[in-house]
Amino acid sequence: MLEANGLSAAYGPVKALAEVSLRVDEGDVMAVLGANGAGKTTLLRTLLGLLPAQAGHIRFLGEDITRLKPAERVRRGLVMVPEGRRVLTSLTVEENLLMGAYPRRDTPSVAELDAIYGRFSNLAQRRHMKAAVLSGGEQQMLAIGRAMMARPKLMMLDEPSLGLSPRLTAEVFALIASLNAEGIAILLVEQNAMLALEASRHALVLELGRTAFDGPSPALLRDDRVRRAYLGGSAPEDAPHHTPPEGVSP
Ligand SMILES: Nc1ncnc2c1ncn2[C@@H]1O[C@H](COP(=O)(O)OP(=O)(O)OP(=O)(O)O)[C@@H](O)[C@H]1O
Ligand SMILES: [Mg+2]
Repeated sequence: MLEANGLSAAYGPVKALAEVSLRVDEGDVMAVLGANGAGKTTLLRTLLGLLPAQAGHIRFLGEDITRLKPAERVRRGLVMVPEGRRVLTSLTVEENLLMGAYPRRDTPSVAELDAIYGRFSNLAQRRHMKAAVLSGGEQQMLAIGRAMMARPKLMMLDEPSLGLSPRLTAEVFALIASLNAEGIAILLVEQNAMLALEASRHALVLELGRTAFDGPSPALLRDDRVRRAYLGGSAPEDAPHHTPPEGVSP
């Protein structure tokens, strides 16, 4: 449903993305991994059109969207949850949610807001409070809820677990899995490579703005180079046979 070919982008003289290609299919979960500064955020910003593509093409749902404005892409269902959440703390929870629907041509219904509140009880209880009162985890949920208000077909999330406790990280990952089960394709930038690989079908590894690996996540989990670089260790040898010592019953 999303296809990028030979995508390059730069900040002035700084080349941040060089000839990156990727494909996200309907129903897919794709992970984007890479060290700090590898170009992960730049890739998402370029796919959304916040940064112009210097070279390459982006197709979404069969159409070339390379030159479309970000709001046009959002309207087609390509939606991003930005790095650092970018919740507007001076607005209420509900105003933040409504902002997510802003690129749409129609007005969001009460039922749609209720559906979000049904999912996030903490947001429901605080709907008329300033987003500033929310915890980091609640702000992440609000950022995802806001993206849902845009009616995404593909949701791109930039490090949604950053700064969250393991328990909240697990909640965010469970939410991503349930959105995917409801038919939303996912493009996930994530610090925690192990979690990201377990949660995804495909993975793209960026190194200095270039593709270092592109393939099925299980293959990446077994790749020695990748394990050394991101997962801290080498691939497990063929599992040794553990024969219990004689006379010891399990
Ligand atoms: N606004 C900017 N102006 C100039 N250079 C930038 C800007 N944003 C990013 N860069 C540079 O572009 C490159 C890619 O940055 P990017 O933010 O895409 O990396 P990232 O993989 O998302 O890193 P992180 O894991 O730290 O979020 C880096 O060299 C970075 O210094
Ligand atoms: Mg980033």
